[in-house]
Amino acid sequence: MKRAAILISGGGSNMKALVADMGGDHPCRPCLVASNDPAAGGIAWAKAQGIASAVVDHRPFGRDRAGFETALRAQIDATAPDLILLAGFMRILTPDFIRAYEGRMLNIHPSLLPKYPGLHTHARALEAGDTEAGCTVHEVTADLDAGPILGQARVPVLAGDTEATLAARILVQEHRLYPAVLRRFAQGERGRLDLG
Ligand code: GAR
Repeated sequence: MKRAAILISGGGSNMKALVADMGGDHPCRPCLVASNDPAAGGIAWAKAQGIASAVVDHRPFGRDRAGFETALRAQIDATAPDLILLAGFMRILTPDFIRAYEGRMLNIHPSLLPKYPGLHTHARALEAGDTEAGCTVHEVTADLDAGPILGQARVPVLAGDTEATLAARILVQEHRLYPAVLRRFAQGERGRLDLG
């Protein structure tokens, strides 16, 4: 059984989808939900499920990114995870942090990478007049949102879409894609999963 540490910054709907899928014959169990934001709604949810949780507020560290990451790594490493799952974790990680978990850290991103790495993905897809959008699960490497792609799910962009309506349509697919990719990855499969 693999131990999965999940990193969030907000409501954690992807984290909930991942945890909901873990159980039975699933190759993973959650060992930690950690957040950089004390207000992250997902932390209270994890506690209520009896999952170990940790908050390392990034703000007192100011520009000391290394100090923040050292504190975060201490919390993560204390739970001896096999896998690190970024699920709406909104801090950019340094190469040192990424190197520590290389090959066992995944991220979900709300665009069809390599299109639109970084922020404001939905607005950028709408501005470009794209007819489809989606989400990507990829391995985390030192290049932002550019690690090997493990899976994608696509949705149509509809007339009248706003950032909010497009984001909501993609989020539904994120909740399908991330658990499906995690199952495969944890079993050693590295092929790409494409959901319609
Ligand atoms: C999700 O849409 C996820 O893809 C995105 O943040 C949202 C988190 O929602 N992640 C990124 O933009 C990473 N750069 P959640 O907290 O409900 O899972």
